[in-house]
Amino acid sequence: MPYPIITLFRSCYGLTRLWEFQAVATRETSHIKIDWQWDEQCHFNHGGDYGPSIIQSLSHDLSATQWANIGAQCIGNKAVFQVLGEGETLQDCVTNVGRLSDEEILQMIPNTWSLNIKHLGKMKGLSPNQSRAQMEEFQEVLSALDQRPVDLNNPESELWLLKDCRRLEDSKTSSKPPTVHYHWLLKRIKPTTKVSAQQLAAQSDIKKRAFISTTTMPADRALLMANLAQVQPNTTVLDPFCGSAGLLIASALLGAKTVGGDIDTELLSHQEYPLCYPASAGRPLRGTEAVSFTDSFTELGLDSPTLLLGANIKDSQAINLYLEANQKQTYDAIVTDPPYGIRESQSQMNSFELLARLGEVADALLKDQGRLVLLQLIDGRLEQADQVKKQFQVNIEKVLSPYQIQLEALSLERFNTRRLRATLVLVKRIQATTRKAKESK
Ligand SMILES: C[S@@+](CC[C@H](N)C(=O)[O-])C[C@H]1O[C@@H](n2cnc3c(N)ncnc32)[C@H](O)[C@@H]1O
Repeated sequence: MPYPIITLFRSCYGLTRLWEFQAVATRETSHIKIDWQWDEQCHFNHGGDYGPSIIQSLSHDLSATQWANIGAQCIGNKAVFQVLGEGETLQDCVTNVGRLSDEEILQMIPNTWSLNIKHLGKMKGLSPNQSRAQMEEFQEVLSALDQRPVDLNNPESELWLLKDCRRLEDSKTSSKPPTVHYHWLLKRIKPTTKVSAQQLAAQSDIKKRAFISTTTMPADRALLMANLAQVQPNTTVLDPFCGSAGLLIASALLGAKTVGGDIDTELLSHQEYPLCYPASAGRPLRGTEAVSFTDSFTELGLDSPTLLLGANIKDSQAINLYLEANQKQTYDAIVTDPPYGIRESQSQMNSFELLARLGEVADALLKDQGRLVLLQLIDGRLEQADQVKKQFQVNIEKVLSPYQIQLEALSLERFNTRRLRATLVLVKRIQATTRKAKESK
């Protein structure tokens, strides 16, 4: 039996990162049917957990490198590993890894070593003494590497020693029994993908970007959302609340043609003016240099979006306007971050009215299987997340019942002490009867 391949997720965005991995894998391998079974033992903790978590044991339908390439295209995925051990289940493998002899480990890990300690998640705050103590826990495995000759200029393999740190999460408040801790011995599989999602996020970081505003979405979250919408080359993406274009830029970076609308005409206008935001290392002249909305696209070598200045989603003509902007063609995806707080009241719609309108717009504008991905803030604290989620889900389904838009995924994470941020993935599914009627027209 081949050794299992597993994936490790970064400690942010909660359950969304699992959905992202699934969405990207489906996008990249539409010909392969994957049986998704997130590892029961190592799940998120009400969104936004800390420390490494091994989530999914991956199928061998794809090679390890293919999985690593998929992982590299996800924002929430830290790396793809192969467990160096054999067994029926992941747990068996982990147990068996602990039983491997030094010789067996050395056989599996040829060539060279240097020690580079990386602590993920909350482990970052450890003092040098505490770090050393942590490393000593791995003594047995490390001793196996002592005997190897080292060519540091040409390393070929990497050994990661991971400890499950989830006890650092809200263990005081949790009623669940403390999680068992394992030491994992894994081989990281290097992706061959030239540009990773992390690199795209770094390129379009808002500290470097030409044009920003008070609501500009961080590049990594924007890419995560575009991934959730399965944006890819030759797709068309609409953001009807585009603001300073965070989501349009992310979608364009993934190869999409973009259309953005916003009620704020001034923001989208092409006039150049200095932005009153502090300078940063990537943008030392910010505050003095004059920039316009589309400069962010030009500097990243992206085509500028089609912009609908002053487009109010509430207007009865809005749907036509969005359609005209895409040569009367339906869209592959709508990716958006509707207004909240003061801006929500400016939009004169509460969050459910907003969702209902987005449902109507998506129903009219999306292709079959097209995706609507959006964020919403809802009242509630992290401890109540499970309860809040259930109720929210019922409300969403009620609001969207008139439309052919179905909830595919919903994840909640902490926004502040009183509110949770929901990421919603919705899919347009044309019912068979409607499809037939359409086809016969
Ligand atoms: C949270 S911001 C979007 C931020 C954006 N993702 C970015 O990266 O800058 C919401 C935007 O919705 C716009 N807006 C508010 N009400 C609107 C409406 N009725 N129709 C269209 N846009 C609206 C606001 O002007 C604001 O730019």
